[in-house]
Amino acid sequence: MTYGREGIYLDHAATTPVDPGVVELMLPFFAEQFGNPSSIYQLGQEARAAIDGARRQCAAVLGCSPSEVVFTSGATESDNLALRGAVDAWRREHGGERRPHLVISAIEHHAVLDTAMTLAEDGVDLDIVPVDASGRIDPAEVAAAIRPETCLVSVMLANNELGTIQPVAEIAAIASERGVPMHTDAVQGAGLLDLSVNRLGVDMLSLSAHKFYGPKGVGLLYVRKGTRIAWQQHGGGQESGRRGGTESVPLIVGMGEALQRAENLRDQYVAHCRTLVDRLWEQLRSNLPDTVRNGTDDPGLALPNILNVVLPGIQGETMLLNLDLLGIAASAGSACTTGNAEPSHVVLAIGRTEQEARSTIRFSVGRGNSLDEMDAAVAAVAEAAERVRALSGTVSAAG
Ligand SMILES: Cc1ncc(COP(=O)(O)O)c(C=O)c1O
Repeated sequence: MTYGREGIYLDHAATTPVDPGVVELMLPFFAEQFGNPSSIYQLGQEARAAIDGARRQCAAVLGCSPSEVVFTSGATESDNLALRGAVDAWRREHGGERRPHLVISAIEHHAVLDTAMTLAEDGVDLDIVPVDASGRIDPAEVAAAIRPETCLVSVMLANNELGTIQPVAEIAAIASERGVPMHTDAVQGAGLLDLSVNRLGVDMLSLSAHKFYGPKGVGLLYVRKGTRIAWQQHGGGQESGRRGGTESVPLIVGMGEALQRAENLRDQYVAHCRTLVDRLWEQLRSNLPDTVRNGTDDPGLALPNILNVVLPGIQGETMLLNLDLLGIAASAGSACTTGNAEPSHVVLAIGRTEQEARSTIRFSVGRGNSLDEMDAAVAAVAEAAERVRALSGTVSAAG
């Protein structure tokens, strides 16, 4: 996928372009099929049928019942709903005397991390389980953290900065044995990993459509039948009373189609991304030998589409601005923290120094990228690195 007119887009973990076939399917629901799905006349019922179809498409990929899929505005809402819903349900069940307890990993996206921190300010006990140097959590540490008051374990399926895949099925088995529900933020896994909720053994799972060639502003929370959860958004009774608010029919239709397409293309996409990232890493290493890879290059333990590196001595933000001038779009960490001067909590969690964390760049490839683009991107990184290093040499010599 070209970026701008001539540039190279290497930030697919931040967002993806919408699949043109998905756009086409969405368009009628902005125009002639604009009905409210709650209306009883035909226009409304057409919208209702479209939502039902999208729910079946999502359920087929997740291997669940359509009734277990709750549509939301995206993974941030889904993550908030999972955590807050589990805490509130536990409080209702146990009264006010005991404090509920949450277990999360140290490399969760801010949608989970900041929600958990806010809950901790509001009387919830929180355990944040560390990760090893590759960014992987040890299931035994989750087992050790679980207490009688634990109301939820939330560990992401794959990390958005490093690409490291977590042993979610193992952790879910431990949680289930202890009677604790398990949530996974599977946002970065869609189209790349098996999302079968039964194979993963999770009770809740979050997705955001714009990460798998669907539209922005729509996502879902899978909630296994029987999971204790207090719904958070009340209103017109939509989503069977679980999430009030008139449904965004075009976006939901787009998500259903995008998820189904991403799943159908999964094997092909994994192979395509792996070839590109292998080339990018190989070229980067030979052109800039001091480059260090964050996370792991073990193909069984990492997403195939992400390459996260430390370029020693170069500020990530400076590199990104230089790359932008050369027509390359990449990221210094997660997109949501761009402009945030804080070093990435994920890169720090794997044991890198603050300096290294500030010199980190994430490249994430996708459908439209080619091998030639990988070579061109590395040439641009080398040119930018030379420019930045020459400039910093001048500055320190002058000052
Ligand atoms: C792992 C993960 N979780 C949650 C989110 C939040 O998704 P959204 O901004 O679509 O709500 C993102 C987006 O970057 C993500 O990568």
